[in-house]
Amino acid sequence: MAGVRITDTTLRDGHQSLWATRMRTGDMLPVVEKLDAVGYHSLEVWGGATFDVCLRYLGEDPWERLRALKRLIKRTPLQMLLRGQSLVGYQHYPDDVVEAFVFKMVENGIDIIRIFDALNDIRNMETAIRAGKRAGAHVQASVVYTISPVHTTEHYLETAERLAEMGADSICVKDMAGLLTPYQAYDLIKKLKENPGLPVQLHSHYIGGLALATYIKAVEAGVDVIDTASVPLAFGASQPPVETVVRALQGTPHDTGLDLGLLFEIAEYFERLRRENRQERGVTRINDMRVFEHQVPGGMITNLVTQLEEQKSAHLLPRVLEEIPRVREELGYPPLVTPTSQIVGTQAVLNVLTGERYKLVPGEVKAYVQGLYGKPPAPVDPEIARRILGDKAPITCRPADLLEPRLAKARNEIKDLARSEDDIISYAVFPQVTRKFLEERKSGQNAGTGPKPGDYRQFAGVEEDINMNFQQIKELVNLINQTEITEFSLKNNDFKLAIKKAGAAGYEAPSGDEHEPVAVPERADTPAQPAAEPSKTGDLTGGFVVKSPMVGTFYRAPAPEAAPFVEVGSRVEKGQTLCIIEAMKLMNEIEAEVSGTVVEILVENAQPVEYGQPLIVIKED
Ligand code: CO
Repeated sequence: MAGVRITDTTLRDGHQSLWATRMRTGDMLPVVEKLDAVGYHSLEVWGGATFDVCLRYLGEDPWERLRALKRLIKRTPLQMLLRGQSLVGYQHYPDDVVEAFVFKMVENGIDIIRIFDALNDIRNMETAIRAGKRAGAHVQASVVYTISPVHTTEHYLETAERLAEMGADSICVKDMAGLLTPYQAYDLIKKLKENPGLPVQLHSHYIGGLALATYIKAVEAGVDVIDTASVPLAFGASQPPVETVVRALQGTPHDTGLDLGLLFEIAEYFERLRRENRQERGVTRINDMRVFEHQVPGGMITNLVTQLEEQKSAHLLPRVLEEIPRVREELGYPPLVTPTSQIVGTQAVLNVLTGERYKLVPGEVKAYVQGLYGKPPAPVDPEIARRILGDKAPITCRPADLLEPRLAKARNEIKDLARSEDDIISYAVFPQVTRKFLEERKSGQNAGTGPKPGDYRQFAGVEEDINMNFQQIKELVNLINQTEITEFSLKNNDFKLAIKKAGAAGYEAPSGDEHEPVAVPERADTPAQPAAEPSKTGDLTGGFVVKSPMVGTFYRAPAPEAAPFVEVGSRVEKGQTLCIIEAMKLMNEIEAEVSGTVVEILVENAQPVEYGQPLIVIKED
């Protein structure tokens, strides 16, 4: 019997899970020839959040990184992670962009493409699978593992079978939250090996500590490949360490045959890098182990704390944690993975903050209920669907069928700032970020001028894996972990001060994928608000004052080129959209609570606003 094979994820998921994706190409190159000599099944080195982070934060061209790695890694296949129709971004892209992207990455050196869709909606994987096959790559199609009444073993087997019919070369079980238990893994892998019978790879995260045992049972069930990372970038939110897995299987029929001496040489390199960059090791927190109770993965809690802090409502965390499973159930049990983790989490936060469930529904949640992200695993609660969509029916077609081709347009827009087809594709995927990158490249600014991995900057929501480490709020998370969640309250003023200080030094609020980071206004005089207070309106002189229900950015129009919703003098009806507050990465439409005439607009377009800040004055009829 051949031993089990191993994919090393250190250069992609490892640093994405533990170092906020901040490893630079220059940090990788000195060690890749050693990695190549190990005899790994593959090296996962690209995709996921790395593409965005290269362009946005590191001043690096992700295509150049890929070519540089390919030049040095001569024998081990290179692997990447693709979010189906969303590629390496957070929204669906038209088919022409998906095809061009897939062909370009194969041309630049990718051998194995791992494709997944957050909802396990295989229609969102079709185009990428087809393109990957045509480009000559090994296409590994994933089933995303989560726990819900509809995510049964049958669901995964059925999904895998359809992926095999679509031409997948292998199947990946993607357990991004470390929820797969050893005996479930045994059962699932055994059945997948029988039917559809393709090679099976298991991707799990250590998080609560189950993954090592899960891997061993998966190996016994006949899994072909498992994912690990070098020990300095393993444990915690990352993969299990390769060294332990190799040791555990030594002398068994599953022996990996990998050289531990060489693996520890590699580990020493990454350990030096970790220390130089003042990065933390992966650790398991009590909350991570309790994920089976509250169903909220650890990284998502970290994110929620940031969001609630922004809203000066960290004391509401326990209520948000109760609200999340409820919203998830009402929305049809989406796995909590980008972008659905954001969708569920933000709706839960808004339900608690506004004091009325679904009073405020972000555009992304509407789009989700409309079916624009794909088909929810279970039907959306009909009451909630009616409340959000009114009489509109959700779409039934593949979401990308509604998208216009974009590549030719992108080419026209970016013109000679683009030096190559790579640049045009980058621009089609991340327009604003790429334009800024290309402009800086033109003026010679960006070669290696991005922050080092040690420069911790807030970077929320780009991971398809739910775990993120943010140095700035680490202390707060520690605080939570020392406390029973149900008793959590933020009383430590010193701590708050530390957060604010970090904020002043370069804090970036979670930003939408194509929006510049939203500045968080520093207002020491703002008292902590019991934000559940529903009052966002009042009656100052001159009329009915519409106040901001949250901290965010004020927009007068749905898009920069669109006409404003209202002008001074506009006649508005109750329920009509007045403006947008962008907060927590999402666009929240603010509706009129009274009918009348707009007599004053108190905030400039695109300006940051505080909780309760007056926005618009309406003279009532
Ligand atoms: Co992962």
